[in-house]
Parts: sequence; C-alpha cells; structure tokens
Amino acid sequence: MLIAIPAENDPAEGRVAATPETVKKLVGLGAEVRIQTGAGLKSGIPDQEYVAAGAVIVPSTAAAVQDADIILRVRRPSAADIAGAKQGAAVIAIMDPYGHIDALQSLASAGVCAFAMELMPRITRAQTMDVLSSQANIAGYRAVIDAAAEYGRVIPMMMTAAGMIKPAAIFIMGVGVAGLQAIATARKLAAIVTATDVRPATKEQVVSLGAKFIAVEDEEFKQAETAAGYAKEMSAEYKAKQAALTASHIASQDIVITTALIPGRPAPVLVTAAMVESMRPGSVIVDLAVERGGNCELSKPGETVVSKNGVKIVGPVNIAGRLPATASALYAKNLLAFIETLIDPKTKSLAIKWDDELVKATLLTKDGGLAHPSFQGGG
Ligand code: NAI
Repeated sequence: MLIAIPAENDPAEGRVAATPETVKKLVGLGAEVRIQTGAGLKSGIPDQEYVAAGAVIVPSTAAAVQDADIILRVRRPSAADIAGAKQGAAVIAIMDPYGHIDALQSLASAGVCAFAMELMPRITRAQTMDVLSSQANIAGYRAVIDAAAEYGRVIPMMMTAAGMIKPAAIFIMGVGVAGLQAIATARKLAAIVTATDVRPATKEQVVSLGAKFIAVEDEEFKQAETAAGYAKEMSAEYKAKQAALTASHIASQDIVITTALIPGRPAPVLVTAAMVESMRPGSVIVDLAVERGGNCELSKPGETVVSKNGVKIVGPVNIAGRLPATASALYAKNLLAFIETLIDPKTKSLAIKWDDELVKATLLTKDGGLAHPSFQGGG
C-alpha cells in the first residue's frame, strides 16, 4: 500500500499533510510512504526527518502520486495534481467542496475517491479526525495574538514607577471552538474578557474560563441551539435586541474578536459600521468569519481596513495556516486517525467500508461520479 504526500502548490499554504510522527505510524500500518521533496519545509520539517521516520523522498508531485493508493493533501488537488494515481485511490484533503462542483467533477473523472475532511461528523468516535476543531482552535489563539500585535497598547494591567496601565478589554463574539480558545488566550494575556453567543450552553463555558457572559437571554435564546449543537439563524426581533446590547457594550471595548457562524448560511453581521464608529481610535477588530461574509460590516478578506475613526479591522484568511507547524501537526493526526479506519490491519491494504458513517459523510466522488448527497443532481 502506497501513501503519497505531495507538496502543496498554493504559495499561501504553509501546512503539510504528514509529519514525521504520523509517517512513522503509517509505516507501522504497513504502508510505503512517499513524500515530495520540500513538502514539509514551511512547517519546519526537513526531508531528512521524514526519511528518519521511514519515508522515501521523491522529486515531484507526479513521482509521489504514481500508483498511490492514498494521497494526502491539505487543499483540494486539481486532476493534474493526481495524474497517475491508481483508479479508486483515496484522495483525502480539506476539499472546500461547496460552490466548486467543476473541480469535484474533474476529481470524479480522474477515477479517484475524494474525501472531504471538513465533512467529518462531529461524533465522539470521530473527534480525533475533526479538522474543523483542530484548525479553529489554532485560529482562535492566533486571532488574539494578531489583535495584540495590531493594538498600540499593552494587554495586561501594569504597575510601573511611571504610573498604572489599565488592562485591555477584549470581547469575543461567538463561543464555538475558535471563540473558546480566543477567550482562554485573552485570559492568559490578562485582559478583561467578555463573550457572547446565542447558544445557552456557552454561558457556563465562558464563565468557567474566567470571562463574563453577555447576551440577550430571552425565550428565543433558550431554543437557539440545534440538535447538532450549532446555532440557528435568529429572528429579526432577536437580532435587534442583540444589536442594541452589542452597541452599548462594544463602545467600551479595546479589542473585539468575532467568530460567529451558522451552518449553511452567511455569517451573521454583528458589528455594524456605526458600532465601529463608537469605538476608540486604535481599537482592533479581528473578524474570523470574514471568509464566510464577515461578522463586521467593514471587514474585507485578507485585508486590514482602518475605519474613519481609526479602528483597525483585520480580516484574516487561512489564519490556521499562518501557524503551519502546529496546524500541520494536528491536521496530520486528524488524517492518520481517519486512515486507520480505511485500512485492513490484517492484509495491510486499503479496505474502505462504504457503509461506515464516516465514509458516507465525507466521500465526494467514486466510480467516476459524484457520490455525496449534497452534490448529486449537479448540485
Ligand atoms: P461554528 O464555527 O459553527 O460557530 C461559532 C459560534 O458562533 C457558535 O458557538 C455559534 O453558536 C455562534 N453564533 C452563531 N450565530 C451567532 C450570533 N448571531 N451571535 C452570536 N454567536 C453566534 O461553531 P463550532 O466552533 O464549529 O462549534 C459548534 C458546536 O459544535 C459547539 O456546540 C461545539 O461544542 C460543538 N462541537 C462538537 C464536537 C464534537 O462533539 N466532536 C467538536 C467540536 C465542536
């Protein structure tokens, strides 16, 4: 069984789909592992470390994927990136499938089984494979670090001979995986932290991290969590109440980190231009939802916008990828945990169980066609 790890070809992508630690485990599962030279460099992993873990280094993407049974990548490959792979090979990546039907069709035509790691069900058995969580955790941390770097003052309270410095007030909007890590990081920097969400379960989590919970806690709030644990789109009436509360709170905040998302919907707008206007010059907003439309009216993907009144609004893209070594270490472990379910330990060969719920949820293409229910009928 041959497992290939080609280098990522997007210059903005610093992550890699395997680490020496996961290569060692894959070799232990009976695989031959081929890695394209330089694939790990941006994550701080030189070729020699992969060799020491049991991998073979090859000069090109084509040499890596030739006859491969499994191809591991960070981002969705093009058909050319997997040319030469076996028919029926498993290609596993963060596929970003929605809105990219043509790209999926070309993977289908290549005859591979493409799996989207971000569609992994969030069930206990698959927790170790949850790339949304592993990458969101890093994003939440990095958002606070970025905000601190953009902020022209220190975060903690300081007692100095020249006087006392007040601590920064940091407000986290949306308390999922990224928001929880942002709260924890802001607390470690000794900020005064407040946080908000529409799901009641988050209140206890916020308080247990030492932050203050702020939300409109009406009847609708009590019903805002879906059975799957996500937020619902709130009513216009709730949104108006939430906006009034946010408007009065945000004016006194130095840093705002927004992470609010609703599955299958654009991100809710929580910070309006008028709210930005109410903040002090030099305040910072980091909008982690910017790639899904943004939680702040003024944020732009990949840019730092400075408002008329001098508030910096950071719109980071692929923020987890900016901490490539840590992001790769976690992503590679997510992949390893999934691959373990795709291999028969006795024959040491690829043995995909087509009726496994993890396979059914993540499989995009099979036998030359689109296999996922979300994309059938040209979807
Ligand atoms: P997400 O990325 O979909 O959303 C981020 C946060 O934004 C959520 O907490 C959501 O409630 C909040 N939000 C949405 N609309 C909002 C609004 N209008 N105002 C304020 N906040 C708003 O969420 P994520 O990080 O993917 O987590 C979602 C859920 O999944 C959580 O309940 C989490 O505990 C759960 N989860 C379960 C896992 C498992 O069981 N394996 C693994 C990871 C997460």
